[in-house]
Amino acid sequence: MRVRPLAWLLLLAAAAPGAAPAMEEDPGLAGAVERGEYLFQASGGCSCHTPSGGPLLAGGRALETPFGVFYSTNITPDVETGIGGWSEADFFRAMRLGEAPDGSHFYPVFPYAAFTRMSDADLRDLQAYLFSLPAVEKPNRPHEVSPPISWRWSAAIWNALFLEVGAYQPDPERSEEWNRGAYLSVALAHCGECHTPRTLLLGLDPSMHLAGSAEAPEGELAPNITPDDETGIGEWSRADLRWFLQTGFKPDGDDAQGLMRELIDQGYRHLTTADLNAIATYLGSLPAIHNRVQAPANAE
Ligand code: HEC
Repeated sequence: MRVRPLAWLLLLAAAAPGAAPAMEEDPGLAGAVERGEYLFQASGGCSCHTPSGGPLLAGGRALETPFGVFYSTNITPDVETGIGGWSEADFFRAMRLGEAPDGSHFYPVFPYAAFTRMSDADLRDLQAYLFSLPAVEKPNRPHEVSPPISWRWSAAIWNALFLEVGAYQPDPERSEEWNRGAYLSVALAHCGECHTPRTLLLGLDPSMHLAGSAEAPEGELAPNITPDDETGIGEWSRADLRWFLQTGFKPDGDDAQGLMRELIDQGYRHLTTADLNAIATYLGSLPAIHNRVQAPANAE
């Protein structure tokens, strides 16, 4: 909804050079796009939606999971094949409830269980940013999954079990920095979607929050990032974690590969020092869970 005024302003600006300063007179929208870009980066650059080699956010990237192959969707503002036709309400519905404008369900491979925690203001800014990007015409590819996963209504059952709808509520017992770190990690950066193992019914296991998962998308191993000294990152200093999220380098000199590398390159590395410290504060406060992540026994 907020994009329409932008389109009009651009048209006006193009038609009448004298009208160009109109852009400057709408700091609201320009500000929304700019803030939205930062939120986009904090979410890891929505990198699952960009196939290697591009085009940006046009979807079609195969996400191999133990339940079949999901293809990410086109989230550019193309009206026919992307999300350009979505109203603000449609965008909120997708991000908060995991539902498409026609009421069908998305699969939880799209981390709406995390994005539902975003504030209203941040959702609006993120949409403004996404809608400011180039539209790419590229039809979505059907997922290759079998029943019961292929029954989209199975997602409705999943939602009833695991989806807690609504924006993040700050914990008044905790500091502002801690709450900022929790918000960033849980709502935007969705660390738990990969680093928390799932139960049999595929919900995130709350008793194992960030304790590592052998079933992260694309069959990757997402290590334990709780402060356990032996199996987690208890021995990393705050500066180590900040450096890792900025560069991909671990304290032992090794560097991140795969999905984690993409999230850093396309997103996390742009976070401010204050925000990276907030994430470190939040992670450091979590219970240390002793859990060594290992490849499943049936892996090659
Ligand atoms: C899309 C999945 C995904 C998301 C989201 C994600 N990670 Fe990761 N992360 C991984 C994978 C996979 C690895 C292993 C990378 C490797 O082996 O090189 C990893 C590695 C790491 C490591 C290195 C740990 C070690 O012991 O080597 C840290 C620290 C980390 N992630 C922190 C985070 C934080 C903090 C967030 C949220 C701000 C986050 N990750 C979000 C998938 C993810």
